[in-house]
Amino acid sequence: MHSLILGHRGASGHAPENTLASFRLAFQYGADGVEFDVHVSKEGALVVCHDPRVDRTTDGSGEIRAMNLSQIKKLDAGSWYGKDFTGERMPTLQEVFAIAPFESILNIEVKKGVHGLYPLEKPLASAILSSGRLNQIIVSSFETKYLINLHQVCPQLRLGLLIHPEELFSFSFDTLPSIPLYSLHPYFAFLNEEWVKKARQKGYRIFTWTANDKKDIEYCVHLGCDGIITNYPDRRP
Ligand code: G3P
Ligand code: MG
Repeated sequence: MHSLILGHRGASGHAPENTLASFRLAFQYGADGVEFDVHVSKEGALVVCHDPRVDRTTDGSGEIRAMNLSQIKKLDAGSWYGKDFTGERMPTLQEVFAIAPFESILNIEVKKGVHGLYPLEKPLASAILSSGRLNQIIVSSFETKYLINLHQVCPQLRLGLLIHPEELFSFSFDTLPSIPLYSLHPYFAFLNEEWVKKARQKGYRIFTWTANDKKDIEYCVHLGCDGIITNYPDRRP
């Protein structure tokens, strides 16, 4: 079977994560799609960043939830990575929609803030519906509560549950949330043939992360993963 290759935070092995430069590069490398992380600004804008604070990936400091979009847009999200990327900005979800090829797969990971979950379910569902990309978007999260709420708000959404590496030994298919899940998103070192077979029998698609070595990507392909999330979409087999 064909495994989709998704650039993790774009092509973040070659460009500053979660920037438009990183997403564009992933598509130039032939990625089938990209994975990226979403937080919420003070006025409720959906902004793309991995951490709940801007400190690690910009020249600024502070919590995204406490900042207006106008403040966030002044930050340089590229020069920490390299001078060639000076001036890159933290994108909004809409800006990612604007540059991503329409047929590409967008894996939107919803994160929690410093003080817990954001009230993002309605605005996110609304943005996805109005994008016309419903069938190309997977919303994933480690937070089961988000997925349950999102299912209530918009049952058509494709939802994916992320599985932490430390759940390797405690994971059970019997304790998954009782909503329809489009996919499971385990850490790649979690995978073996038996687990993949069981997930398949239960009807789950598998999108695994973050396989960066070529041999690990090949192993995930060999196992028959539906999607492989990698910092190096240029290393696709
Ligand atoms: O969605 C897969 C992966 O991105 C989950 O972990 O910390 O990189 O967002 P993280
Ligand atoms: Mg992520």
